[in-house]
Amino acid sequence: MCRISVSLCLRGVLCISLPLSLAAAQGSPSTQQVTAASVAPTSEFYAKPSAQRLARGKYLVEGTAHCFECHGLSDFGNGLGQPKPGTEGAGQIIKDDDNDDKMYPDGIIVPNITPDRETGAGNWTDSQFERAIRHGIGHDGRKLIDFMPYAYFRSMTDEDVASVIVYMRSLPAINNPLPKMRLGFEVKTDMQQEMEPALRPDATDQIRHGWYLVRIAQCNGCHTPYDDKGNPVADMMFGGGLRLKGEWGDVVTPNITCHPSGISHYDAAMFIKTIRTGRASAGVRDLATVMPFSYFRKMSDEDLSAIFAFIHSVKPVFHEVDNSEPPTFCTICKQAHGLGDRN
Ligand code: HEC
Ligand code: HEC
Repeated sequence: MCRISVSLCLRGVLCISLPLSLAAAQGSPSTQQVTAASVAPTSEFYAKPSAQRLARGKYLVEGTAHCFECHGLSDFGNGLGQPKPGTEGAGQIIKDDDNDDKMYPDGIIVPNITPDRETGAGNWTDSQFERAIRHGIGHDGRKLIDFMPYAYFRSMTDEDVASVIVYMRSLPAINNPLPKMRLGFEVKTDMQQEMEPALRPDATDQIRHGWYLVRIAQCNGCHTPYDDKGNPVADMMFGGGLRLKGEWGDVVTPNITCHPSGISHYDAAMFIKTIRTGRASAGVRDLATVMPFSYFRKMSDEDLSAIFAFIHSVKPVFHEVDNSEPPTFCTICKQAHGLGDRN
């Protein structure tokens, strides 16, 4: 399995570097095991609406899972990064001006998932939704590219995925026709790899709950460095090092393990304050809006505490990253970032 980090430009303005699988493009056999959950279920899935599911779905979609950061037009320049009103779920085209035109000749098409019957999800069944979210199979049976974080959503419980579907169906229908995505490669079985941290056998229920939320929030996808083949560096998990460049600035994700070079100075209260205010550490500096704090801040204190308990329990990693310092070369993540020369 070969993954590379590519530079993508949203509508030609916002550039984002995210790991994308190239297994098929390279013709390399995937070494990844296809897990049971990645095989599409044969039974039908039903998401019966209820007030409770509607509320839970809103909490997950607009909070933890931040679906509209991709399936809407994010306003990264307003200090929050929330979707522009009226674009929630309507999808978009992410253009890459640099090196990606062969793989995505027309850009990455993020589908319209609002209930619009003509251009969105109005005619899709609950099973079609569920298969896309947890198994990476589109409503038309196509294998989805791993830009859609289905491997992270795979762990969602039946109740939570049903809630997400119930909420998606309650959204206003937005008529937003988008072209079918053309790919310069064939999507093979299961492209996306989720990174499993070593969950200690003695992990408390709070830590386990935190890990459940961390996956849905995809913290590990952003806060882990990737090697030159685009594979996540497993023993650096949560150690930071992914470059994200765009309207929000040019930043490298920081180390969020409890190593002194990470966030050992945080306690749960400071973590919650950081997420709620969008200001880093002791409130000294605004966080770049690509960090989805404006979604995560909608989570309860209980859930944010669980997330903190989990990240506090993972293996501490040495890696200094500070986006407020001038960039210098880092031998750990092989790129320039603030405090890179200290590594
Ligand atoms: C990091 C960006 C990103 C996030 C976050 C994201 N998606 Fe997606 N999603 C995509 C992309 C890109 C595709 C299209 C992939 C393809 O066509 O191969 C997609 C496809 C889908 C599809 C399949 C649509 C179809 O045409 O069959 C559904 C349903 C969907 N997403 C729902 C969701 C939901 C619900 C969430 C939040 C729980 C979510 N997505 C979060 C990027 C994202
Ligand atoms: C889309 C990528 C992305 C995701 C997903 C993401 N982060 Fe971040 N995070 C960032 C970036 C980029 C920064 C640095 C922003 C800056 O320096 O301005 C950051 C900063 C932080 C900080 C501040 C660290 C400091 O130096 O004080 C914390 C804490 C943090 N993230 C925790 C998390 C947690 C926990 C999750 C999951 C619930 C998460 N992040 C998900 C990109 C992401």
